[in-house]
Amino acid sequence: MRRVVMSEQFLAHTGARVPVICGAMYPCSNPELVGAVVAAGAVAVVQPLSIAFAHRLDLRQSLREIQAQNQGGAVGFNALVEKSSKIYEERMRKWIDIALEEGVRFFVTALGNPDWVVEKVHAVGGVVYHDVTERKWALKALEAGVDGLICVNGRAGGHAGSKDAGDLYEELSDLGVPLVMAGGVGGPEGFVQALERGYEAVQLGTRFIATEECSAHADYKQAIVNAGKEDIVLTRRISGVPVSVIRTPFVERVGTEVGPIARRLLQSPRFKHWVRSYYAARSVWSLGRGATRDGGYNDYWQAGKSVDAIEGVRPAAEVVAEFEAAFERYRKAAG
Ligand SMILES: Cc1cc2nc3c(=O)[nH]c(=O)nc-3n(C[C@H](O)[C@H](O)[C@H](O)COP(=O)(O)O)c2cc1C
Repeated sequence: MRRVVMSEQFLAHTGARVPVICGAMYPCSNPELVGAVVAAGAVAVVQPLSIAFAHRLDLRQSLREIQAQNQGGAVGFNALVEKSSKIYEERMRKWIDIALEEGVRFFVTALGNPDWVVEKVHAVGGVVYHDVTERKWALKALEAGVDGLICVNGRAGGHAGSKDAGDLYEELSDLGVPLVMAGGVGGPEGFVQALERGYEAVQLGTRFIATEECSAHADYKQAIVNAGKEDIVLTRRISGVPVSVIRTPFVERVGTEVGPIARRLLQSPRFKHWVRSYYAARSVWSLGRGATRDGGYNDYWQAGKSVDAIEGVRPAAEVVAEFEAAFERYRKAAG
């Protein structure tokens, strides 16, 4: 059903012109991609682990260069707040301080309790949106004071949710904060369907990998263009929880499940954080190698079911312009 009432709280929160987010992507969020998206008027989320470890760049300098390109868009910052180790937490706190000092005011948190991020960001007038896959986590995030929710559905690239985008919307629509749909949108048609459902914005990952500015390996980009939704499988072998990847000969050879010992440890309240940390460290290395310029074939190529609507490698500005035109038509029709 077409909704005629539009809320534009997301645009007010971010200050961007186009309600589209280029989501954080480890290791695919290189500064050229983020800069190109904010220069085109949309939101792009910096992934600090990606800047520091995959691209080996200085975070502050990268943020300055990205901010300098912004023309009607907004720079966001991804804070994975899982309590994996003290060193990680301290590093994330420092990174958030740098982002705030460099003028970033839109934060996307995921994986843990975002209360301390909310406190820091609200103190300077910024906003925090939290990644959720179901109502239980949404309620916890709202208790922590977040301003909006990124609703990760079962079609998303990266760590996928389990629910259909429509069902997730119905589950969260009474919460009174802007909802952003993440997963499955590869082109303007899917974007307009999301707006019609009631979502205020969409977060895209896979579509922005297949752009000229993304520094991912050309073969990875081409694999996204060639793939259909049936080529996307969930593997637990990267981080212990399901991650969407393209089914390559490598993935077929190694399988998508962890062994019985790791499975048991992942279910144990005592050991699960330890095993997750081990997988996370391993995935930082393996994903970094698989997606960057010198990536090989014995690695993972993360992508969501949005591959279905992705037909070519294009400049990021062209992708954003197409979504902006669709948004303007939708806005006009909605009155
Ligand atoms: C390669 C890849 C890496 C990702 N890494 C992260 C990440 O580090 N942090 C995060 O919050 N989301 C991450 N995501 C999720 C995206 O930000 C976005 O929500 C998701 O890709 C949307 O689904 P789509 O790929 O179908 O567009 C990643 C997604 C992909 C494809």
